[in-house]
Amino acid sequence: MKVAWPVEIVGTGAYIPERVVTNDDLAHLVDTTNEWIVQRTGIRERRWVAPNEATLALATRASQAALADAGVSAQDLDLIVVATVTPEHLLPATACLLQSALGCRWIPAFDLEAACSGFVWAFSIGAQHLVNGLARTVLVVGAESLSTITDMHDRQTCILFGDGAGAAVLRRSNGGERAILATSMGADGARGKLIYIPAGGSKEPATRRTVDERLHYMRMQGREVYKFAVTQMQAVIEETCRDAGITVGDLALVVPHQSNLRIIESACQRAGLPMDKVAVNIDRYGNTSAASVAVALHEARAERRIKSGDLVMLLAFGAGLTWGSVLLRI
Ligand code: UT7
Repeated sequence: MKVAWPVEIVGTGAYIPERVVTNDDLAHLVDTTNEWIVQRTGIRERRWVAPNEATLALATRASQAALADAGVSAQDLDLIVVATVTPEHLLPATACLLQSALGCRWIPAFDLEAACSGFVWAFSIGAQHLVNGLARTVLVVGAESLSTITDMHDRQTCILFGDGAGAAVLRRSNGGERAILATSMGADGARGKLIYIPAGGSKEPATRRTVDERLHYMRMQGREVYKFAVTQMQAVIEETCRDAGITVGDLALVVPHQSNLRIIESACQRAGLPMDKVAVNIDRYGNTSAASVAVALHEARAERRIKSGDLVMLLAFGAGLTWGSVLLRI
């Protein structure tokens, strides 16, 4: 959808847990090889949380870094949105715990569950609060401890996912060029079970049996997700550019969800986008779901790959199935 929202990113931050897990480490857990993983996914290593570490700790570190980068005090925040599929607890929202950990006022804070699209959706919804005047400063976070919901006996998923967090502080831009030019959010619930966790929700509460049968871990039909992801990401790139009245060639950088290097390469190639205009860090972190666009955005800013006036697209798809984009003039 074409929009003209005077919103800018004033700071970003990321936190990746210290424990590095290489492909060779995983080859000790399941029947796989470094070569297979690199060739099929582009992943060389990922990070896992320590036993005493979880999503709130990652989110807090990333948020503190983003606030410091923005030169904004936690007291100045008016809204927190945390995108995650691995909340600290099922109840209450991780965003509320983060509000307290950061030392904020009693501001609204909620979690958003759109799986890997979560950060892009949180960004769009946070921006809407700025535009409609409900907030002056917004913190949007993507944070995941996917290693806690990944079945380490399942070679299709355990090689793919990693842990991490990224955050961005958003504000209204004062006049000038900085703005969101287009944004999209979509979902196809009919394909909800392509990636899901069978038990632990209200349909099948956790019991000894569900745990014994490993039903509290993520299940994925990888090949189906792969096919959908390539065509949908290409369509979203093209549609978002069309909405904004620009061409794909005008983009300075696309920051896609780090799902699988082959998915990113195929979608971008089909859309006519050269890979030197695409932020990629999947080799180091794997697929970190809602954290992935947030971390890649922070790294792109930190590496000065984004300059004032650039057209930058945040792009994601994920379980739900969901997808989304935000096109910014920086
Ligand atoms: O964040 C959004 C959610 N998820 C995704 O975006 C994931 C999308 N899907 C994918 O990334 C890919 O489908 C995978 C990486 C999960 C799998 O890659 P693939 O190229 O689609 O492989 P495949 O499932 O078609 O399997 C090919 C072969 C199979 O063996 P056979 O049946 O040909 O003998 C698998 O059993 O590779 C086998 N295989 C493995 N071999 C070694 C599957 N996983 C592994 C593994 N190591 N880890």
